Amino acid sequence: MKIRKAVFPVAGLGTRVLPATKAMPKEMLTIVDRPLIQYVVDEAREAGIEHFIFVTGRNKGVIEDHFDRMFELDESLNGRNTTAEIAELARFQPEAGEMSFTRQQAPLGLGHAVWCARDIVGNEPFAVVLPDELVLNSPGCLKQMIDIANGLGEKSNLVAVEEVPMEMTHQYGICGVGERHGGPDGNTFTIDGMVEKPPKGTSPSNLSITGRYILQPEIFKILETQERGSGGEIQLTDAMIGLAKSQAFYGVEFEGERHDCGSKSGFLRANIAFGLRRPDLRDGLRAEMLRYLAET
Ligand code: UTP
Repeated sequence: MKIRKAVFPVAGLGTRVLPATKAMPKEMLTIVDRPLIQYVVDEAREAGIEHFIFVTGRNKGVIEDHFDRMFELDESLNGRNTTAEIAELARFQPEAGEMSFTRQQAPLGLGHAVWCARDIVGNEPFAVVLPDELVLNSPGCLKQMIDIANGLGEKSNLVAVEEVPMEMTHQYGICGVGERHGGPDGNTFTIDGMVEKPPKGTSPSNLSITGRYILQPEIFKILETQERGSGGEIQLTDAMIGLAKSQAFYGVEFEGERHDCGSKSGFLRANIAFGLRRPDLRDGLRAEMLRYLAET
């Protein structure tokens, strides 16, 4: 199963991090020195993705600009002979034609955002990557999933899952755990039912569906008529429940630390965690933090 395309839904309003997201896309919030969207594009590229599809909305044009050439900047950096910066910009410069942008005119939900990419994806399996969820690990979460997908049958769907406290399960999409399969340390299992935000006391497990998916194109047919679910939004989980009636779904307990950068506390934590893992910043950041904590 060759996964060539990834969809990045970036049309949400980011209300949990207002006012930062009033005029700026949430996906451009910066973790250390690069925007969220840059991390997930890098993760997808590492996983072998060749075509990057963004579902954008109003006020999101700067995401497209971020992946374009900036001639004035290139010119100015070349003039100053700043080799490190030039190399860094060149490293993430996409090839012409590798990226596509389409619009979700109204934020009707994640399921609807994915459906907006149907014509660009076409009739092949694809990945969905949510930019406000970062996983700190090498190899990245999507690479781990694609490696596992390669050992599964055609028409398999995969979702990344993570343990959450049982008393919090009513806030998440949760999956039931069926038979365990291979994968490193048996971290892959057949999903035995999915439910979006189960009422307290009814959750089939404490494994929540997180922001990485590998889906078969038949999901689009289901999304076309998917009704609004939790929160009045067209939910991807509800469409996956429909697809699970005819195709296999697997859960992958991935390696790595997941950071929810779409909440204020998660965003702050991610900045510290990613900063502390950066060899060029770690010692200085640690010293600053210790000094600050001693003074306050
Ligand atoms: P979230 O629910 O985390 O994002 O969706 P949000 O709706 O922007 O955030 P809050 O809850 O208001 O703070 C996960 C991803 O799906 C995209 C978002 O942009 C985010 O990257 N999304 C969500 C869409 O593209 N369209 C939608 O209708 C909803």
